[in-house]
Amino acid sequence: MTTVSAVPVVTTGPDRFGRLLRDVRISVTDRCNFRCPYCMPKARFGPGHRFLPRAEALDAREIVRLAGVFASLGVTKIRLTGGEPLLRPDLVEIVEGIAKLGVPDIALTTNGALLRRWAVRLRDAGLQRVTVSLDSLDPAVFTSMSDSRIELSEVLDGIAAARDAGLAPIKLNCVVQRGVNEDGLLDLVGFARREGLGLRCIEYMDVGATNGWRMADVVSGEEILERVRHVYPLLEEAPDPAAVARTYRFADGSGDLGVITSVSRPFCGDCTRARLGVDGKLYTCLFATAGIDLREPLRSGADDDALRRIVADRWKRRDDRYSELRGLGIAEGERIEMSYIGG
Ligand code: GTP
Ligand code: 5AD
Ligand code: SF4
Ligand code: SF4
Repeated sequence: MTTVSAVPVVTTGPDRFGRLLRDVRISVTDRCNFRCPYCMPKARFGPGHRFLPRAEALDAREIVRLAGVFASLGVTKIRLTGGEPLLRPDLVEIVEGIAKLGVPDIALTTNGALLRRWAVRLRDAGLQRVTVSLDSLDPAVFTSMSDSRIELSEVLDGIAAARDAGLAPIKLNCVVQRGVNEDGLLDLVGFARREGLGLRCIEYMDVGATNGWRMADVVSGEEILERVRHVYPLLEEAPDPAAVARTYRFADGSGDLGVITSVSRPFCGDCTRARLGVDGKLYTCLFATAGIDLREPLRSGADDDALRRIVADRWKRRDDRYSELRGLGIAEGERIEMSYIGG
Protein backbone atom coordinates (compact mmCIF):
# COMPACT_ATOMS: atom_id res chain seq x y z
CA MET A 1 0.00 0.00 0.00
CA THR A 2 1.16 3.51 -0.71
CA THR A 3 1.57 5.87 2.22
CA VAL A 4 0.74 8.98 0.23
CA SER A 5 -1.15 11.65 2.16
CA ALA A 6 -3.92 13.76 0.64
CA VAL A 7 -2.15 17.02 1.53
CA PRO A 8 1.19 17.67 -0.18
CA VAL A 9 3.99 17.78 2.37
CA VAL A 10 6.55 19.22 0.00
CA THR A 11 5.58 20.91 -3.27
CA THR A 12 8.15 21.05 -6.02
CA GLY A 13 7.67 24.75 -6.64
CA PRO A 14 8.73 26.15 -9.99
CA ASP A 15 11.84 25.08 -11.86
CA ARG A 16 14.38 27.65 -13.05
CA PHE A 17 12.03 28.82 -15.81
CA GLY A 18 8.98 29.02 -13.58
CA ARG A 19 7.43 25.72 -14.71
CA LEU A 20 5.62 23.44 -12.26
CA LEU A 21 5.69 19.64 -12.28
CA ARG A 22 2.24 18.51 -13.42
CA ASP A 23 2.67 15.57 -15.76
CA VAL A 24 4.70 12.36 -15.42
CA ARG A 25 5.31 9.84 -18.20
CA ILE A 26 6.31 6.44 -16.89
CA SER A 27 8.14 3.96 -19.11
CA VAL A 28 7.06 0.57 -17.79
CA THR A 29 9.27 -1.45 -20.14
CA ASP A 30 12.09 -0.86 -22.61
CA ARG A 31 10.92 -3.86 -24.68
CA CYS A 32 8.71 -3.65 -27.74
CA ASN A 33 7.17 -6.02 -30.27
CA PHE A 34 7.74 -3.41 -33.01
CA ARG A 35 11.02 -2.04 -34.32
CA CYS A 36 9.99 1.35 -35.69
CA PRO A 37 13.18 2.64 -37.33
CA TYR A 38 12.64 6.12 -35.84
CA CYS A 39 12.59 4.70 -32.31
CA MET A 40 14.15 1.21 -32.05
CA PRO A 41 15.95 0.53 -35.34
CA LYS A 42 16.67 -3.20 -35.79
CA ALA A 43 20.32 -2.51 -36.49
CA ARG A 44 20.69 -1.34 -32.88
CA PHE A 45 17.86 -3.27 -31.21
CA GLY A 46 18.39 -6.63 -32.90
CA PRO A 47 18.50 -10.11 -31.30
CA GLY A 48 21.78 -9.28 -29.52
CA HIS A 49 20.41 -6.21 -27.76
CA ARG A 50 20.53 -6.42 -23.99
CA PHE A 51 17.31 -5.13 -22.48
CA LEU A 52 17.16 -4.13 -18.85
CA PRO A 53 17.13 -7.27 -16.65
CA ARG A 54 13.77 -7.63 -14.87
CA ALA A 55 15.25 -7.25 -11.41
CA GLU A 56 16.52 -3.82 -12.38
CA ALA A 57 13.13 -2.62 -13.57
CA LEU A 58 10.73 -1.15 -11.04
CA ASP A 59 8.04 -3.62 -10.07
CA ALA A 60 4.34 -2.73 -10.05
CA ARG A 61 4.30 -1.76 -6.36
CA GLU A 62 7.32 0.48 -6.79
CA ILE A 63 5.78 2.22 -9.78
CA VAL A 64 2.55 2.82 -7.90
CA ARG A 65 4.44 4.05 -4.85
CA LEU A 66 6.34 6.61 -6.95
CA ALA A 67 3.14 7.60 -8.75
CA GLY A 68 1.74 8.38 -5.28
CA VAL A 69 4.76 10.50 -4.50
CA PHE A 70 4.29 12.43 -7.75
CA ALA A 71 0.57 12.84 -7.13
CA SER A 72 1.25 14.29 -3.71
CA LEU A 73 3.58 16.81 -5.35
CA GLY A 74 0.78 18.11 -7.58
CA VAL A 75 1.02 15.80 -10.59
CA THR A 76 -2.42 15.50 -12.21
CA LYS A 77 -1.59 13.47 -15.30
CA ILE A 78 0.21 10.14 -15.54
CA ARG A 79 0.90 8.47 -18.86
CA LEU A 80 2.09 4.88 -19.05
CA THR A 81 4.38 4.37 -21.96
CA GLY A 82 7.49 2.49 -23.00
CA GLY A 83 8.60 0.57 -25.05
CA GLU A 84 5.30 -1.20 -25.44
CA PRO A 85 3.46 -1.13 -22.09
CA LEU A 86 1.15 -4.03 -23.03
CA LEU A 87 4.16 -6.37 -22.90
CA ARG A 88 4.13 -6.01 -19.13
CA PRO A 89 2.02 -8.79 -17.63
CA ASP A 90 1.35 -6.71 -14.50
CA LEU A 91 0.14 -3.60 -16.34
CA VAL A 92 -3.39 -4.07 -14.98
CA GLU A 93 -2.02 -4.02 -11.42
CA ILE A 94 -0.10 -0.82 -12.20
CA VAL A 95 -3.18 0.90 -13.66
CA GLU A 96 -5.32 -0.23 -10.75
CA GLY A 97 -2.83 1.09 -8.22
CA ILE A 98 -2.53 4.47 -9.92
CA ALA A 99 -6.29 4.77 -10.37
CA LYS A 100 -6.76 4.21 -6.63
CA LEU A 101 -4.51 7.20 -5.94
CA GLY A 102 -7.13 9.42 -7.54
CA VAL A 103 -4.87 10.85 -10.25
CA PRO A 104 -7.35 12.79 -12.43
CA ASP A 105 -5.88 11.81 -15.83
CA ILE A 106 -4.40 8.36 -16.50
CA ALA A 107 -3.46 7.61 -20.10
CA LEU A 108 -1.64 4.90 -21.99
CA THR A 109 0.42 5.08 -25.16
CA THR A 110 0.54 1.79 -27.06
CA ASN A 111 1.24 0.47 -30.53
CA GLY A 112 -2.16 -1.24 -30.29
CA ALA A 113 -1.08 -4.72 -31.39
CA LEU A 114 -2.10 -6.34 -28.07
CA LEU A 115 -4.90 -3.96 -27.22
CA ARG A 116 -7.69 -6.38 -28.16
CA ARG A 117 -6.50 -8.72 -25.40
CA TRP A 118 -6.21 -6.01 -22.77
CA ALA A 119 -8.77 -3.27 -23.41
CA VAL A 120 -11.55 -4.53 -21.12
CA ARG A 121 -9.22 -5.46 -18.26
CA LEU A 122 -7.50 -2.08 -18.45
CA ARG A 123 -10.82 -0.26 -18.42
CA ASP A 124 -11.95 -2.27 -15.43
CA ALA A 125 -8.69 -1.39 -13.69
CA GLY A 126 -9.45 2.33 -14.11
CA LEU A 127 -7.76 3.34 -17.35
CA GLN A 128 -9.69 6.17 -18.95
CA ARG A 129 -8.20 6.71 -22.35
CA VAL A 130 -5.64 5.43 -24.78
CA THR A 131 -3.37 6.77 -27.51
CA VAL A 132 -2.44 4.36 -30.29
CA SER A 133 0.58 4.91 -32.52
CA LEU A 134 -0.47 4.46 -36.14
CA ASP A 135 1.76 5.78 -38.91
CA SER A 136 0.00 4.46 -42.00
CA LEU A 137 -3.10 2.66 -43.27
CA ASP A 138 -1.15 1.21 -46.16
CA PRO A 139 -0.17 -2.33 -45.08
CA ALA A 140 3.22 -2.16 -46.84
CA VAL A 141 4.13 1.23 -45.35
CA PHE A 142 2.81 0.12 -41.95
CA THR A 143 5.04 -2.96 -42.06
CA SER A 144 8.14 -1.04 -43.06
CA MET A 145 7.49 1.56 -40.35
CA SER A 146 6.88 -0.99 -37.59
CA ASP A 147 9.38 -3.56 -38.89
CA SER A 148 7.74 -6.60 -37.28
CA ARG A 149 5.51 -9.51 -38.32
CA ILE A 150 2.49 -7.92 -36.70
CA GLU A 151 -0.12 -6.89 -39.23
CA LEU A 152 -1.95 -3.62 -39.56
CA SER A 153 -5.27 -5.45 -39.07
CA GLU A 154 -4.24 -6.40 -35.52
CA VAL A 155 -3.72 -2.74 -34.63
CA LEU A 156 -7.03 -1.76 -36.21
CA ASP A 157 -8.68 -4.56 -34.21
CA GLY A 158 -7.05 -3.20 -31.08
CA ILE A 159 -8.45 0.25 -31.74
CA ALA A 160 -11.93 -1.20 -32.25
CA ALA A 161 -11.62 -3.17 -29.00
CA ALA A 162 -10.59 -0.03 -27.11
CA ARG A 163 -13.67 1.73 -28.42
CA ASP A 164 -15.94 -1.22 -27.55
CA ALA A 165 -14.49 -1.18 -24.06
CA GLY A 166 -15.47 2.48 -23.72
CA LEU A 167 -11.96 3.92 -23.48
CA ALA A 168 -12.36 7.55 -24.53
CA PRO A 169 -11.08 9.62 -26.09
CA ILE A 170 -9.01 7.40 -28.36
CA LYS A 171 -6.17 9.31 -30.01
CA LEU A 172 -3.90 8.25 -32.84
CA ASN A 173 -0.24 9.29 -33.02
CA CYS A 174 1.35 9.47 -36.45
CA VAL A 175 5.03 10.32 -36.84
CA VAL A 176 5.25 11.92 -40.29
CA GLN A 177 8.49 11.22 -42.15
CA ARG A 178 9.50 12.75 -45.45
CA GLY A 179 9.29 10.25 -48.29
CA VAL A 180 8.09 7.48 -45.99
CA ASN A 181 4.44 7.98 -44.98
CA GLU A 182 3.69 11.58 -45.93
CA ASP A 183 1.61 10.50 -48.94
CA GLY A 184 -0.73 8.49 -46.71
CA LEU A 185 -1.50 11.40 -44.43
CA LEU A 186 -4.90 12.24 -45.93
CA ASP A 187 -5.99 8.61 -45.74
CA LEU A 188 -5.24 8.66 -42.03
CA VAL A 189 -7.10 11.93 -41.62
CA GLY A 190 -10.14 10.46 -43.42
CA PHE A 191 -10.02 7.34 -41.25
CA ALA A 192 -9.73 9.32 -38.02
CA ARG A 193 -12.68 11.55 -39.02
CA ARG A 194 -14.89 8.59 -39.93
CA GLU A 195 -14.04 6.66 -36.78
CA GLY A 196 -14.19 9.63 -34.39
CA LEU A 197 -10.52 9.33 -33.38
CA GLY A 198 -8.28 12.30 -32.56
CA LEU A 199 -5.32 12.19 -34.94
CA ARG A 200 -2.05 13.77 -33.73
CA CYS A 201 0.62 14.30 -36.37
CA ILE A 202 4.07 14.38 -34.81
CA GLU A 203 7.15 15.95 -36.33
CA TYR A 204 9.92 13.38 -36.55
CA MET A 205 12.27 14.11 -33.62
CA ASP A 206 15.95 13.54 -32.93
CA VAL A 207 15.27 11.50 -29.79
CA GLY A 208 17.86 9.01 -28.56
CA ALA A 209 21.08 8.35 -30.40
CA THR A 210 20.23 5.55 -32.82
CA ASN A 211 17.61 6.69 -35.35
CA GLY A 212 19.95 8.60 -37.67
CA TRP A 213 17.63 11.63 -37.61
CA ARG A 214 18.15 14.29 -40.26
CA MET A 215 16.33 17.59 -40.51
CA ALA A 216 15.60 16.76 -44.16
CA ASP A 217 13.34 13.89 -43.01
CA VAL A 218 11.10 16.15 -40.94
CA VAL A 219 7.75 17.25 -42.35
CA SER A 220 6.83 20.39 -40.45
CA GLY A 221 3.53 20.89 -38.68
CA GLU A 222 2.81 23.84 -40.99
CA GLU A 223 3.25 21.68 -44.06
CA ILE A 224 1.04 18.97 -42.57
CA LEU A 225 -1.69 21.51 -41.81
CA GLU A 226 -1.39 22.99 -45.29
CA ARG A 227 -1.91 19.58 -46.89
CA VAL A 228 -4.88 18.76 -44.70
CA ARG A 229 -6.50 22.19 -45.04
CA HIS A 230 -6.47 21.80 -48.76
CA VAL A 231 -9.04 19.02 -48.45
CA TYR A 232 -10.59 19.62 -45.03
CA PRO A 233 -10.82 23.25 -43.83
CA LEU A 234 -9.56 23.70 -40.28
CA LEU A 235 -10.24 26.12 -37.44
CA GLU A 236 -7.54 26.67 -34.81
CA GLU A 237 -8.58 26.02 -31.21
CA ALA A 238 -7.40 28.28 -28.39
CA PRO A 239 -3.96 26.97 -27.39
CA ASP A 240 -3.80 24.84 -24.24
CA PRO A 241 -0.42 25.48 -22.57
CA ALA A 242 -0.62 22.12 -20.75
CA ALA A 243 -0.91 20.17 -24.02
CA VAL A 244 1.88 19.13 -26.33
CA ALA A 245 -0.33 19.28 -29.45
CA ARG A 246 -1.79 22.36 -31.07
CA THR A 247 -5.35 21.44 -31.93
CA TYR A 248 -7.49 22.32 -34.95
CA ARG A 249 -11.17 21.58 -35.41
CA PHE A 250 -12.46 20.39 -38.76
CA ALA A 251 -14.71 23.19 -40.02
CA ASP A 252 -17.49 20.68 -40.78
CA GLY A 253 -17.58 19.58 -37.15
CA SER A 254 -16.09 16.09 -37.73
CA GLY A 255 -13.59 16.06 -34.89
CA ASP A 256 -10.13 17.54 -34.54
CA LEU A 257 -6.54 17.23 -35.62
CA GLY A 258 -3.41 17.92 -33.57
CA VAL A 259 0.11 18.77 -34.63
CA ILE A 260 3.11 18.25 -32.35
CA THR A 261 5.85 20.58 -33.50
CA SER A 262 8.77 19.90 -31.22
CA VAL A 263 11.20 20.65 -34.06
CA SER A 264 9.70 23.61 -35.93
CA ARG A 265 7.91 25.28 -33.02
CA PRO A 266 9.13 24.01 -29.66
CA PHE A 267 6.97 24.18 -26.55
CA CYS A 268 9.59 24.00 -23.77
CA GLY A 269 8.31 27.23 -22.21
CA ASP A 270 5.20 25.42 -20.99
CA CYS A 271 6.80 22.04 -20.30
CA THR A 272 5.55 20.65 -16.99
CA ARG A 273 6.62 17.06 -17.79
CA ALA A 274 9.01 14.66 -16.10
CA ARG A 275 9.76 11.09 -17.11
CA LEU A 276 10.34 8.02 -14.99
CA GLY A 277 12.58 5.50 -16.74
CA VAL A 278 12.15 1.73 -16.53
CA ASP A 279 14.86 1.43 -13.87
CA GLY A 280 13.48 4.20 -11.67
CA LYS A 281 15.57 7.11 -12.90
CA LEU A 282 13.83 10.46 -13.05
CA TYR A 283 14.46 12.58 -16.13
CA THR A 284 13.37 16.16 -16.53
CA CYS A 285 13.46 16.24 -20.35
CA LEU A 286 12.78 13.85 -23.22
CA PHE A 287 16.26 14.66 -24.48
CA ALA A 288 18.05 14.15 -21.16
CA THR A 289 21.46 12.55 -21.05
CA ALA A 290 21.23 11.68 -17.33
CA GLY A 291 18.63 11.16 -14.64
CA ILE A 292 18.55 10.84 -10.88
CA ASP A 293 18.03 7.47 -9.26
CA LEU A 294 14.84 6.99 -7.29
CA ARG A 295 15.09 3.18 -7.17
CA GLU A 296 18.00 3.07 -4.76
CA PRO A 297 16.35 5.23 -2.07
CA LEU A 298 13.06 3.42 -2.71
CA ARG A 299 14.65 0.00 -2.17
CA SER A 300 16.68 1.07 0.81
CA GLY A 301 13.63 2.15 2.77
CA ALA A 302 13.23 5.89 2.10
CA ASP A 303 9.81 7.12 3.22
CA ASP A 304 7.52 9.17 0.98
CA ASP A 305 8.68 12.46 2.50
CA ALA A 306 12.27 11.66 1.62
CA LEU A 307 11.31 10.69 -1.93
CA ARG A 308 9.29 13.88 -2.31
CA ARG A 309 12.28 15.90 -1.18
CA ILE A 310 14.56 14.22 -3.76
CA VAL A 311 12.11 14.93 -6.58
CA ALA A 312 11.42 18.49 -5.43
CA ASP A 313 15.15 19.28 -5.14
CA ARG A 314 15.78 18.00 -8.64
CA TRP A 315 12.83 19.87 -10.10
CA LYS A 316 13.95 23.15 -8.51
CA ARG A 317 17.25 22.90 -10.39
CA ARG A 318 15.64 22.00 -13.73
CA ASP A 319 16.65 24.20 -16.66
CA ASP A 320 15.85 21.91 -19.61
CA ARG A 321 14.67 23.37 -22.91
CA TYR A 322 16.34 21.08 -25.39
CA SER A 323 13.98 21.69 -28.30
CA GLU A 324 14.49 25.43 -28.05
CA LEU A 325 18.24 24.95 -28.13
CA ARG A 326 18.23 22.24 -30.81
CA GLY A 327 21.06 22.65 -33.25
CA LEU A 328 23.16 24.79 -30.92
CA GLY A 329 25.15 21.77 -29.79
CA ILE A 330 24.40 22.47 -26.13
CA ALA A 331 23.61 18.95 -24.90
CA GLU A 332 26.58 16.87 -23.81
CA GLY A 333 26.68 13.07 -23.70
CA GLU A 334 24.55 10.45 -25.39
CA ARG A 335 20.81 10.97 -25.16
CA ILE A 336 18.77 8.23 -23.49
CA GLU A 337 16.68 6.14 -25.92
CA MET A 338 13.00 6.99 -26.04
CA SER A 339 11.87 3.43 -25.25
CA TYR A 340 13.77 3.68 -21.97
CA ILE A 341 12.97 7.21 -20.91
CA GLY A 342 9.29 7.05 -21.92
CA GLY A 343 7.87 8.55 -25.09
P1 GTP B 1 -2.44 14.05 -24.46
O1 GTP B 1 -2.25 13.71 -23.02
O2 GTP B 1 -3.50 13.25 -25.08
O3 GTP B 1 -2.54 15.52 -24.71
O4 GTP B 1 -1.15 13.50 -25.20
P2 GTP B 1 0.29 14.04 -25.12
O5 GTP B 1 0.30 15.44 -25.59
O6 GTP B 1 0.89 13.80 -23.80
O7 GTP B 1 0.93 13.25 -26.26
P3 GTP B 1 1.49 11.79 -26.46
O8 GTP B 1 1.80 11.12 -25.20
O9 GTP B 1 0.57 11.09 -27.36
O10 GTP B 1 2.80 12.16 -27.19
C1 GTP B 1 2.76 12.63 -28.48
C2 GTP B 1 4.15 12.94 -28.96
O11 GTP B 1 4.62 14.10 -28.31
C3 GTP B 1 5.17 11.86 -28.70
O12 GTP B 1 6.02 11.73 -29.81
C4 GTP B 1 5.90 12.37 -27.53
O13 GTP B 1 7.19 11.87 -27.46
C5 GTP B 1 5.88 13.84 -27.80
N1 GTP B 1 6.06 14.56 -26.56
C6 GTP B 1 5.34 14.42 -25.44
N2 GTP B 1 5.82 15.21 -24.47
C7 GTP B 1 6.87 15.85 -25.02
C8 GTP B 1 7.79 16.79 -24.52
O14 GTP B 1 7.73 17.19 -23.38
N3 GTP B 1 8.75 17.22 -25.37
C9 GTP B 1 8.85 16.80 -26.63
N4 GTP B 1 9.81 17.29 -27.38
N5 GTP B 1 8.00 15.90 -27.14
C10 GTP B 1 7.04 15.44 -26.34
N1 5AD C 1 9.95 11.30 -33.32
C1 5AD C 1 8.65 11.59 -33.04
N2 5AD C 1 7.85 10.75 -32.37
C2 5AD C 1 8.34 9.58 -31.99
N3 5AD C 1 7.77 8.55 -31.35
C3 5AD C 1 8.71 7.59 -31.18
N4 5AD C 1 9.88 7.97 -31.73
C4 5AD C 1 9.67 9.21 -32.25
C5 5AD C 1 10.49 10.12 -32.96
N5 5AD C 1 11.77 9.86 -33.24
C6 5AD C 1 6.37 8.54 -30.95
C7 5AD C 1 5.70 7.22 -31.14
C8 5AD C 1 4.64 7.22 -30.07
C9 5AD C 1 4.99 8.34 -29.16
C10 5AD C 1 5.01 8.01 -27.73
O1 5AD C 1 6.26 8.78 -29.57
O2 5AD C 1 5.14 7.08 -32.38
O3 5AD C 1 3.37 7.44 -30.60
FE1 SF4 D 1 7.80 0.36 -30.10
FE2 SF4 D 1 6.45 2.65 -29.93
FE3 SF4 D 1 9.09 2.68 -30.26
FE4 SF4 D 1 7.54 1.85 -32.25
S1 SF4 D 1 7.57 3.94 -31.36
S2 SF4 D 1 9.42 0.83 -31.54
S3 SF4 D 1 5.90 0.85 -31.17
S4 SF4 D 1 8.00 1.92 -28.49
FE1 SF4 E 1 10.05 19.57 -22.25
FE2 SF4 E 1 12.49 18.81 -22.95
FE3 SF4 E 1 10.41 18.48 -24.62
FE4 SF4 E 1 11.37 20.93 -24.13
S1 SF4 E 1 12.43 19.27 -25.16
S2 SF4 E 1 9.23 20.32 -24.20
S3 SF4 E 1 11.94 20.73 -21.96
S4 SF4 E 1 10.72 17.48 -22.62
